[in-house]
Formats: sequence, C-alpha cells, structure tokens
Amino acid sequence: MTKSIGLIGIGVMGSNIALNFSEKGTSVHVFNQSEDKINSLIEKDSNGNISGSTDLENFIESLPKPRKILMLIPSGKPTFDMAKKVINYLEPNDILIDGGNAYYLDSSRLGALCAKKEIDFIGMGVSGGEEGARNGPALMIGSEKSINNELKDSLSSIAASYENSLSIGFYKGYGTGHFIKMLHNGIEYAEMQIITEAYHILKKANYTNIEISEFFKKFSTQNRSSYLIEITSEILLKKNDSGYLLDQIQSTANHKGTGKLTVETSLNYGFPLPSVFEAFNARVESNYENLWSKNIDGQLIDISSESLNNAIYFARLATMIQGLLFIQHVSNKEQLDIDLKEVLQNWSAGCIIRSDLLNELGNAKLLNPITTTPSVQDLLQNNLSDAKEVIKSCIDSGISIPVINSSYNWFVGTSSTFNPSALIQAQRDYFGAHQVQFKNSDEFIHLDWD
Ligand code: 6PG
Repeated sequence: MTKSIGLIGIGVMGSNIALNFSEKGTSVHVFNQSEDKINSLIEKDSNGNISGSTDLENFIESLPKPRKILMLIPSGKPTFDMAKKVINYLEPNDILIDGGNAYYLDSSRLGALCAKKEIDFIGMGVSGGEEGARNGPALMIGSEKSINNELKDSLSSIAASYENSLSIGFYKGYGTGHFIKMLHNGIEYAEMQIITEAYHILKKANYTNIEISEFFKKFSTQNRSSYLIEITSEILLKKNDSGYLLDQIQSTANHKGTGKLTVETSLNYGFPLPSVFEAFNARVESNYENLWSKNIDGQLIDISSESLNNAIYFARLATMIQGLLFIQHVSNKEQLDIDLKEVLQNWSAGCIIRSDLLNELGNAKLLNPITTTPSVQDLLQNNLSDAKEVIKSCIDSGISIPVINSSYNWFVGTSSTFNPSALIQAQRDYFGAHQVQFKNSDEFIHLDWD
C-alpha cells in the first residue's frame, strides 16, 4: 500500500520535507491557498508524489483514512487557529501532527483538544534547518498512543541516521517531543555562544579569520567537532568584494524564543541551567553594545590554542550534562520515562547540535544520575585546569566569556564540599522571619537573632 501524508505549510521547511517524503516514496498532498505555490512545489518534485489542494475541506476529504496531517506552520496562534479548523473536518482515529517549533505546553493543550474528538495528536520537534528537512532531519516525537505503523514508516524513511540508527525519538506525552526539541535549542544557544566566545578570544589574540577557521577545522581530527563548529569554520572564510562577510554583519544577536522558553522552563522547575541562561542573556546583551559613554578596550590576550580547545570541550560537556540532568529531572517529576540514551541517539544526526561529543556520550556507559558516571566526571575534571587558565587570561585581558565562565562556576559550585547558602537562609530569617532548617532536620524554624 502506498504511504501517504497531508501537509499544511509549504514554506521552506514544509517544501523541503514534502520533497524528502516524495523521494522516499510517501505521497504528499499539500494544502495551500496559493495555487502558484503548490504548482511551483510540484514542479520541483522529480518523483511525482506531490499533489495539492487550495480548499481545506477538499484537501482533508481527499486523504485516505485514517488521515495523517502534518502541520509545519508558525507556532502559537497560527498553529492553534489552523488546528481548530482542521479538527472540524477530522474523524476519530485521524492523526494530526504539529511539526512546528511549538512550546511543549501548547502541544499538551492541543493534544487534549484533539483527544476530546478522539483524534490522535502528535507533537513532533523537527531539527536540522532547511538542509535537514530536505535530506534528513532529527525527529522528536511525542504522543500518548503508539504511532500508526504506516506513519512510522514514512517518518523513519525521511529521518537522518548515524551508524545505521535513525535520529528519531519516540516519547510519552503530547508535549514531550517538543520538550526535547526545546532543550535541543537551549543547548544550541549555549554551543553557539561558546564558539562565539572562542572566536572573541582568538580575535583578541590577533588570529586572522583564516587562522580562526583553521583552529576550528582541526577539531574534526580530534573527534571534538560538531555541525556548528564545522559551519563556523566555513563562515569565517566567506568573502565578498568588501572583504569577509562576517566582518560586515551587525553584532546584535536575535532569537525566535526557544532559548528563552528553555530558560523560563528551567526557572519554573527551579532547576539550574546556567550555561543556557547565560547564552540567552548574551544574545540579549549584544543589543546593548554602547551602554557606557566610556569603553574598556580589552588588551591583547596570549592564549595556548590547546588550552582553549580544552576549555571549549569542557564548557560544551558541562552544558550538555546540565541539559540532560534537566531532562531527567522533568522526566522524573512528570513521570515521562525519558531514556537519556534515546535522547542522545535522537540528537546524533540531522539536528543542529549533532556532534562528536553527543556520539561520545551516546557510546559511554552512563549511570543514573549521569553525574555519577566516572568517565563523565573524569572528562570534566581533566579539562578543568585549562578552562580555569582561559578564564584567568580573559579576566586579565578584559574579555567577557559568560558561558565558558558559567559552565566552570556550575561545575565547581556543584562539586564543592562547601556550600555557603546557609548565610542566605540566615539573612532571610533575620530580616523577614522566613525560617531556616538546621542540618539533619526537616523542621522550619524562626531563630532569635536579637
Ligand atoms: C533546528 C533549529 C531551528 C532554529 C530555531 C532557533 O533545530 O533546526 O534549532 O529550530 O534555528 O529557529 O532559532 P533562533 O536562534 O532564532 O531562536
């Protein structure tokens, strides 16, 4: 039987996913109000598996039952509005998939709405950008029921793979796929910022763009590379008539919100995710460049490229562990049974944070909690002194490296035998009678400070 899927949204991601499905033998029926857009997509489809409709009801009626409809449209209100229209035409056991960059709690809400009409909802995080959508994305799939076999085959056929294992993860709960995607994006922000901090350091060490590119390129010979490191190495070399492209771009970083949502979620759970927080803050701060009327001009830095390489590795590993610990924490709290090995497999190819580090962790024997894994602790400890060296040099040279620094502080803070926060509690109790607990006691008491 031919596999089929309905697709709403033929922007860049949607069109590329449609072509990917078509190439792998799934027929795709798309909905779009513009006949021209549908025709231009059909023209690009050399496999002849794409058709389209400009009328929503016709589009839905023409799909074989149970209908499988993938929405790839902007998240939030546009997705909700479209979903509500689509649901009106669906029947029990039809399947609605949200593949946009949805907030995971929105997916939970949409799932509950669909459930009322016995429609199966799937919240699916898609990573890999344009190129991934066309040639193999990572798919993070959240649902309450097991996935329809035909749909599973279709999705598996388009996903990326690493060492013959597909980058496709199946998670329990309508919002869990998007939760994993959100964490992916939070880690993406931190990874991008760590690379950017290294770029800053090397610029201040008087490296040319070509030398910085070479520095990053070398990572692949040491099994320390990543998709983001590879593209950085390429970005640094691109030129036009006026010189390097990078040198002509405004240094104010934008975002579409997923990193912010990751930070907000970690704060809502009261769980530390400092490297992601600092990465998000660095983007925000970059918009306030000329805050002071007098500038501090950093000095030239003298840095060993080996120490910097190790400091980058340290910060990336610390960030990844923070992210995995947070996933574990939420999984335990919400009883989601998320298997971290599955997450590592899910992120091993196709997605933006794919890297040698993820493969290294994926192949390691991880203990629960992950912080008790000797190899992980050794890796952090073995690179700690280089992270410290880099931070010291940056302080001396006036270079701000918030994510490398916070990764270091997080590791040192959470490994320390002394935690000074008793003083915070004492201060709160002193001025506001907020109560403290004595060591080895569950009881909260207000102390007499007079
Ligand atoms: C991916 C990316 C993708 C994306 C986001 C983040 O996994 O393919 O994470 O979802 O690039 O839009 O973009 P911002 O940096 O604009 O938040």
